[in-house]
Amino acid sequence: MTMTHGATRSGQTSEKRGMNLTLRIWRQKDPSVKGKMVTYKVTDISPDMSFLEMLDVLNEQLITNGEDPVAFDHDCREGICGMCGVMINGQAHGPQQTTTCQLHMRSFRNGDTIDIEPWRAAAFPVIKDLAVDRRAFDRIIQAGGYITAPTGTAPEAHSTPVPKKDSDAAFDAATCIGCGACVAACPNASSMLFTAAKVTHLGLLPQGQPERNDRVVNMVAQQDAEGFGGCTNIGECSAACPKGISMETISRLNHDLLGALRAGVRPKS
Ligand code: SF4
Ligand code: FES
Repeated sequence: MTMTHGATRSGQTSEKRGMNLTLRIWRQKDPSVKGKMVTYKVTDISPDMSFLEMLDVLNEQLITNGEDPVAFDHDCREGICGMCGVMINGQAHGPQQTTTCQLHMRSFRNGDTIDIEPWRAAAFPVIKDLAVDRRAFDRIIQAGGYITAPTGTAPEAHSTPVPKKDSDAAFDAATCIGCGACVAACPNASSMLFTAAKVTHLGLLPQGQPERNDRVVNMVAQQDAEGFGGCTNIGECSAACPKGISMETISRLNHDLLGALRAGVRPKS
């Protein structure tokens, strides 16, 4: 049996109808004023739109009406840069284990009410609406998330052999995009999974050995100084992480940290 384009066996159109949604969004003009949830309606939202495209539709609507558009962070919109991220119905990045930019509206139903809030953590203060200041992550990296390597021509890859299991584990840890969902999901607002991903990535490779002890001690001291909470092994971080960074990286960090402290390494003042 042949069917004409757009028709199903029951004769109904196969075109998915747009969704009508109620959005309750955190609006906060700047860090000095109190924020509040504001309700908006959007109509005819395609299930194939990304969550950010749905917010674009809302913002076009607001701009047309002469209202202030909702501020939110984004860049690549491909799950690579780590810029996007909001709490959606209380979950970091929403109901799928992916980035907000890669979440599609087919994860919701017509008529849904969706709560959208910024990451909640003292170390990530709100800049405006859904955009938060995540420079605390940059400072943790500056404290030790690097290697000292000569610059110049790239060395021949085979000159530094790395066991396959180590390179695989290092690569898995290196997929962290620094989005901050782990902090937002953690009841303690701990940045341990982020820091552990960086410590693991570099600590498993020969190139990361010279600074290994200093790195872990200084990065952990910096995350404490930034006001992130302590890790109590709840695991919400890993469950929310769009890159599936495992809790095993935290065990590796703790192992390295104990070793470094026993060796007498102390944070730079
Ligand atoms: S560990 Fe995962 S959730 Fe945390 S910053 Fe990295 S990618 Fe984002
Ligand atoms: S916008 Fe780059 S990861 Fe979402």
